[in-house]
Amino acid sequence: MNKLHSLNRLINEDSNKYFIRTYGCQMNEHDSEQIAFMLNKAGFKRTEDIDESDLIILNTCSIRANAENKVYGLLGQLKKYKKDKNNNKIIAICGCMPQRESSLEELTNKYENIDIIFGTNTIHKFPELLLNYINENRKEIAVRESFNLEYEVLGYSYLYSHKAFVNIMYGCNNFCTYCIVPFTRGREVSRPLEEIITEVKKLAKNGVKEITLLGQNVNSYGNDFDKPISFSELLKELDKIEGIEQIRFMTSHPKDISDKLIQSFQSLNNLERHLHLPVQSGSNRILKEMNRTYSREKYIDIVNKTRKLNPDISITTDIMVGFPGETEEDFEETLDLVRICEFESAFTFIYSPREGTKAAKMENFVDKDIINDRFKRLTDLLYEIALKKNIKLIGSVQRVLVDEISKTNDEYLNGRTSSFLNVNFKGEKDLIGKFVNVKIIDANTFALEGEIIDV
Ligand code: SAH
Ligand code: SF4
Ligand code: F3S
Repeated sequence: MNKLHSLNRLINEDSNKYFIRTYGCQMNEHDSEQIAFMLNKAGFKRTEDIDESDLIILNTCSIRANAENKVYGLLGQLKKYKKDKNNNKIIAICGCMPQRESSLEELTNKYENIDIIFGTNTIHKFPELLLNYINENRKEIAVRESFNLEYEVLGYSYLYSHKAFVNIMYGCNNFCTYCIVPFTRGREVSRPLEEIITEVKKLAKNGVKEITLLGQNVNSYGNDFDKPISFSELLKELDKIEGIEQIRFMTSHPKDISDKLIQSFQSLNNLERHLHLPVQSGSNRILKEMNRTYSREKYIDIVNKTRKLNPDISITTDIMVGFPGETEEDFEETLDLVRICEFESAFTFIYSPREGTKAAKMENFVDKDIINDRFKRLTDLLYEIALKKNIKLIGSVQRVLVDEISKTNDEYLNGRTSSFLNVNFKGEKDLIGKFVNVKIIDANTFALEGEIIDV
C-alpha cells in the first residue's frame, strides 16, 4: 500500500489517465481488474481512449500466434508517441507473453518503446516498478518468478457491480501437447477454501449476485492440498452463501469430471445450468496425440449423462481444427461428435504452433486450404445446431440477470439465461443487475430476443 501512496504523490491531474487492454481468457480479465484496483487506489483514472492516456497497459495472451501478433501490431503503432516529447506515454506489458522466453526476447529486442514488463506472477510488483520508472526513468522488467500464493492480493476493481470472477486455482498441470498455458502460468496451485469463501462472502455483502469461478481445470481443484477436497465440495460450500444467487465456473477438463459434479446441477440451488467442456477433437487418435487423456466415447458418455440428469442444461465446448496429422477421417469424427453432442455453442480455433510445446515439433502440418475448408464445415454445422436449439426456446420464459445495455441498440438490454444463452430485450437501464423474467419471442444463431413479462 505504501507504494500506492508514493505513486499518488507523484501523479497529478494532467498525468493520471490509464488505458488497459486485455487479450486472452477470463484469468487475464480478472488480472486486469487487479491492476485497475491498484491504479485506482494510487489515484489514476481509467480512460477508454488510448490517445488521451498517460499510461498504457497491455495485458497479453500467448495462446495462438494471432493473439501475440495483435500486441506486436499495436506496439508498432504506439511507437509514434515516443517520438514526441510532449506526448510521451508510459507503456507497460504484462500477462502471458512476458512469461514466454521467445516472446519476452522479441518484446525487449524489437520494441524499445516498452518501459515496464511484468508477468502473471508479478502483478503485485507493478506499483513498485511504476514508481521506479517515474522516479528514476529506469526501464523495469520483473518476470519469470515462480508463483507464490502468499503475495498480497490487494483487491480487484470489478467491472460489474452485480457479477464477479473469483480465482479458485492458478496454473495447469495437463500439458496438452499444443498448449502454451502450462509454460506461461506454471503448475496448478489451489486457493485455500476459507480464502475463497471469505472473498465470496465479501462480494455478496457488496451486492454481487453472480460469481464465476475461474481455473484452467476447475475439476482438479484441491488435489494439491495435504487433505484434498473436491471441486463439488467447494461448490457445496459456496452454494450456502447468502446473497449469491448464481454460481458458474470455467473451465472443466473432461478427464476428471466427477458424477458428483454432474449431480450438483440438481442438488445445489444456485449452480447455473451450463457446462463448458472443451473436447478439442472427436478423433481418438488425435485426442491421444494431444495428450487429452480421454476418449471420444468417454466424452460422449459424460454429455449424455449430464443431459439426462439435467435436461435444461446447455453444454458448450472448444474445438480445434488442423492439429498436426489430422486426416479427413479424423475431422469427420469431430463432425460426428458435434452431431451427437448437439452443443449449444462452441469456440472454434485453427491450430497454431507454439514454440516450446510438443506439438510444435510435429512435422505433419495440415495444408492451409484444407484447414480453412474444415473450419467452415465445422462452423456451418455448429451454427445449424445452435439455431435449431435457439428456435426451440421461442415461447419459453427464462429468468435472466440483466447485465448491460445492448452494444448494438441502446433501447435494448442484454443478459444471460441460466444456461448462459445471450438474450436481448427492451427495458430501462435501472434493471441492470436485477433478475427479470423474459418471454422468448425470436431467435437467431447467436442470441435470443425476448420481452420482459415481470420483474
Ligand atoms: N484450460 C482450458 C482451455 C484453455 S485455452 C481447457 O483445457 O479446457 C482455450 C482454448 O484455446 C483451448 O480449449 C483450445 O481449444 C485453444 N487452444 C489452446 N492452444 C491452442 C493452439 N496452440 N492453437 C489453437 N488453439 C489453441
Ligand atoms: Fe492448456 Fe490443456 Fe491446460 Fe487447458 S488443460 S490450459 S488446453 S494444457
Ligand atoms: Fe492466453 Fe494466458 Fe489465458 S495464454 S488464454 S491469457 S492463460
